[in-house]
Amino acid sequence: MNEHSTDYNALKQSEPSLPARWYFDEAHHQRELKEIWHKSWVYVCRSHDLAEPLSFRTVEIGDQNIVVLRGETGEVVAFHNACRHRGSILCPERQGRLKSKLIVCPYHQWAYAASDGRLVKTSSFAEPDGFERDDYGLFPVTVAVWRGLIFVNLDAHADWDADLPFQREPAHLNNFPIEHMVTVHTWRKVMACNWKTFWENFNECLHCPNIHPELSDLVPMYGRRIVNVKDVPDWADHAGSEDPKYRGGLRKDSQTWSMDGSAQGHVIASLTADEVARGQTYGVAMPGMFVGAYADHMRIVRMLPLSAEQTELVAEWLVPHETAEADNYDISQIVDFAIMVMDQDLAACELNQRGLHAAPLQQGVLMPEEYHVKHFQDWVRARLQE
Ligand code: FES
Ligand SMILES: [Fe+2]
Repeated sequence: MNEHSTDYNALKQSEPSLPARWYFDEAHHQRELKEIWHKSWVYVCRSHDLAEPLSFRTVEIGDQNIVVLRGETGEVVAFHNACRHRGSILCPERQGRLKSKLIVCPYHQWAYAASDGRLVKTSSFAEPDGFERDDYGLFPVTVAVWRGLIFVNLDAHADWDADLPFQREPAHLNNFPIEHMVTVHTWRKVMACNWKTFWENFNECLHCPNIHPELSDLVPMYGRRIVNVKDVPDWADHAGSEDPKYRGGLRKDSQTWSMDGSAQGHVIASLTADEVARGQTYGVAMPGMFVGAYADHMRIVRMLPLSAEQTELVAEWLVPHETAEADNYDISQIVDFAIMVMDQDLAACELNQRGLHAAPLQQGVLMPEEYHVKHFQDWVRARLQE
């Protein structure tokens, strides 16, 4: 959701939503993995999460398991998490630290250099004629680090350009010190819905007043089912109004997305008065990452498809160092609020998912407020060349 521009008129004509079966059909899901997920930048974790040399994270992008690690000399590298001998997973854990400079296969103990994936040893008493270790290094995966966020791309030829994954204005996050912030909480959930079902939900507020009463109270514009004050035909009649319903921003006396709306005296020092007044700033990296930035914290939300009808959601809360160390800042204020809102979304998405199976339902239809959903669906269609 973006408050800086509106494309309200993009849906003056009624437009069909994506075909319903695209949300549950297994063959279609495989196509999306191949054409979208395996050719896009996917957020893995923060650079801070791999602070120690030889620490690693693994991530599953559809059926592709990737290990991302910090080499001994500080560089971040990534490989397909698969042994070149007979294909075993190398690092079965979600995260950990290698015991040595080698990645050792848990099956027959072939060992690879952590720094570049070179095959260093096999476990046979003699290697056969014609066998060259150089031919059996780990398959590399393309990595990019943007402002302390680590992304991988399964397309070996992918070029990093911040505008590319962040389809929506990464510059709006410039004053948020994301690379220096501390992760104070992580929340993981497996949702019974297709990844697009959840993504679309995050891109419209037509559902806000009934699904999110507390959020709609905090962000009065959302209570009007819109994400930009200009998202209604008669917006100019209220231009100049100080009422947050028409002006945007948070309800009176609130500063951030927290249970009581208070930033507890910890507004991020580098923000402008406008950025604080805005209430929320978003960054969107399709297909699966959403960054929300607020007066005192940031939240990174990542989703990954586990199957056609299961999606993993991981949310991380970040605050500046000083805030993390302060004894007068209660993180449950920001964590509980966001989990309440995400749980509400999740319940709506799971209902949405079940209904999509109705045999006569070919596809839904988009309403004018859903122009970000339309952009997303156009992007999906373009990726699939439909
Ligand atoms: S599969 Fe890895 S050493 Fe055999
Ligand atoms: Fe929502």
